[in-house]
Amino acid sequence: MADVYTPDTLKELSDSSPRYGVIGYPVKHSLSPGMQLAGFEAAGIEAQYVRIEIEPDKLTDTITQMKEMPFAGWNCTLPHKIELKALVDDLTESAEKLGAVNTVLHEDGRFVGFNTDGQGWVRAIREDFSVDVRDLRILILGAGGAGQALARQAAMEKCERLVIANRSIDKAAELLDELSSTIHSDKLLRSNDRLKAIPLDADAVAAEVGEIDLVVNTTSVGLKAADPELLPARALEPHLLVYDTIYKPNPTRLLRTAEEIGARTSNGLSMLLHQGALSWEIWAGRSAPLEAMRQGLQDAFNQSR
Ligand code: ATR
Repeated sequence: MADVYTPDTLKELSDSSPRYGVIGYPVKHSLSPGMQLAGFEAAGIEAQYVRIEIEPDKLTDTITQMKEMPFAGWNCTLPHKIELKALVDDLTESAEKLGAVNTVLHEDGRFVGFNTDGQGWVRAIREDFSVDVRDLRILILGAGGAGQALARQAAMEKCERLVIANRSIDKAAELLDELSSTIHSDKLLRSNDRLKAIPLDADAVAAEVGEIDLVVNTTSVGLKAADPELLPARALEPHLLVYDTIYKPNPTRLLRTAEEIGARTSNGLSMLLHQGALSWEIWAGRSAPLEAMRQGLQDAFNQSR
């Protein structure tokens, strides 16, 4: 069986067991098959879970094509999560509120779009740091797709404080406007300081972190070895919890800097696990075998190095 399918080769997929998969572009590095298949195996469910690479301009046609095929459900990763919102038949509240779809259930001939990224992140923070997002003062670095989703989730959780830092401040300010008008939270709106947009630079961040518990990187800075330093040590403090949604390389430069000054750190692998387990539960209709999925994910990660 091919490792990565495309719209042209999808018809080669076997009909012998329920089909699941992950769509994206690129998708060949996705760790989801290892994790999801470990879950199915542990639960004694026979299933396929494949990678499907779809160029952005082929997304609409491919979703239509998949509707005619026996897909039981699938995940969606970059860059299709936002576009997919308009292509599914029904949107659940999670997808509506986060503005993106990462999980689809094929139910009675309809594609139902969910989003498990936000809840997956909340569970990851709880597991990694033994704290709840709602009790934290949070600084989100980045206001792109991932930053928007996590900021919306944090606001929905009515976290204690939310600061959004972005290189282009306009995007952070726009997100802030949206959150203050759509998220009705006394806690968040009590003072202007509870919800704030700042530029993503060392001075602006250094001025905020005294009133922050959790820093979350959602920018793409750190993915490549040649990337610039996102924040210098002087912008961080030892009391911080620092979470980088990037899990490769591990640690990222940001996490290394944070560790060096004594902050606690964790990376996006835990978020990948928990969003995946929540997707699995939507498809299987029962509790996910979390430890088996964790092991499957770790194995896939180790093999990818
Ligand atoms: P994603 O959907 O993964 O969040 P994206 O929407 O392209 O990807 O967003 C990328 C994020 O990384 C943005 O917040 C971007 O900042 P800008 O909005 O200013 O472009 C941020 N980013 C990318 N390169 C950066 C860099 N060199 N320094 C700081 N931020 C950067």
